[in-house]
Amino acid sequence: MATPAPRDVAVLLLLLFPVLAPVASAVPFIVLHGIGDECGNDGLASFTEMLGEWSGSKGYCIEIGKGALDSWLMPLQEQANTVCKKVKKMKELSEGYNIVGLSQGNLIGRAVIEYCDCGPPVKNFISIGGPHAGTASVPLCGSGFLCILIDNLIKLEIYSDYVQAHLAPSGYLKIPTDMEDYLKGCRFLPKLNNEIPSERNATYKERFSSLENLVLIMFEDDAVLIPRETAWFGYYPDGSFNPVLPPQETKLYTEDWIGLKTLDEAGRVKFVSVPGGHLRISRSDMKKYIVPYLKPDALSKQSIRRILSV
Ligand SMILES: *[C@@H]1O[C@H](CO)[C@@H](O)[C@H](O)[C@H]1NC(C)=O
Repeated sequence: MATPAPRDVAVLLLLLFPVLAPVASAVPFIVLHGIGDECGNDGLASFTEMLGEWSGSKGYCIEIGKGALDSWLMPLQEQANTVCKKVKKMKELSEGYNIVGLSQGNLIGRAVIEYCDCGPPVKNFISIGGPHAGTASVPLCGSGFLCILIDNLIKLEIYSDYVQAHLAPSGYLKIPTDMEDYLKGCRFLPKLNNEIPSERNATYKERFSSLENLVLIMFEDDAVLIPRETAWFGYYPDGSFNPVLPPQETKLYTEDWIGLKTLDEAGRVKFVSVPGGHLRISRSDMKKYIVPYLKPDALSKQSIRRILSV
């Protein structure tokens, strides 16, 4: 017999596995931080370092502009455009990469996946506490000059052109009892989520649903994201603050506006709930829910299937 039976090939692959594994190319990852944070901060630097060390893959924290200030004041579309330009310039990412998003950084990550024309392919998207379906409250800023400025912006009309152009979180503030103004005035999230029927773009769905894995991590005691289920794409129904709909009961899911249902039905969405407040992920949960998706996929089920089908 000239050609080996598929079973023999499989056995051969299993025997070779330990030899092949170290050769498998590592997929790099980028970290997109949340509001008020910046890559130079110790916490974020060690977060990126730890993930790199545990996974054996190279990680890059991508700064958007002038760090913390821009994360508050630069509209999210501009922040996403900046990241798109940066990832296209990074040769290290040209074969594909993974995204680890923190809070607001997840919306930037998703915008890069959906909008970044000719960007390198994104394989896995690990979302930690992301306001994917919006949030009904602006994150608390704290004290200091910047926060006084921000508090004053929040007191203005949140869906006005002025606030939309000067306060990043206004791009995903979704008041369920004010959906008309939201859909009309909010410049970022309605487009990202393909919420406006006449403006839906099939490219966003095609790109988002081509992810290999989407890991959605929600914090059980999250008091920053309102409701916390937004980290899973769950949200309030239009017109009311209760009950919180699980992701599978939202229109975004049932009508599959961005491909979440497609991904879920293919078994590629992991809905993960961890103890703790907003972004307070433990090291053991990082190892359990993030690291496995950053490891080099030596011989994934997909690649074995591909080899066997040749
Ligand atoms: C849909 O989005 C893609 C990617 O950004 C863009 O190239 C295309 O022009 C958009 N299509 C429409 C009809 O707006």
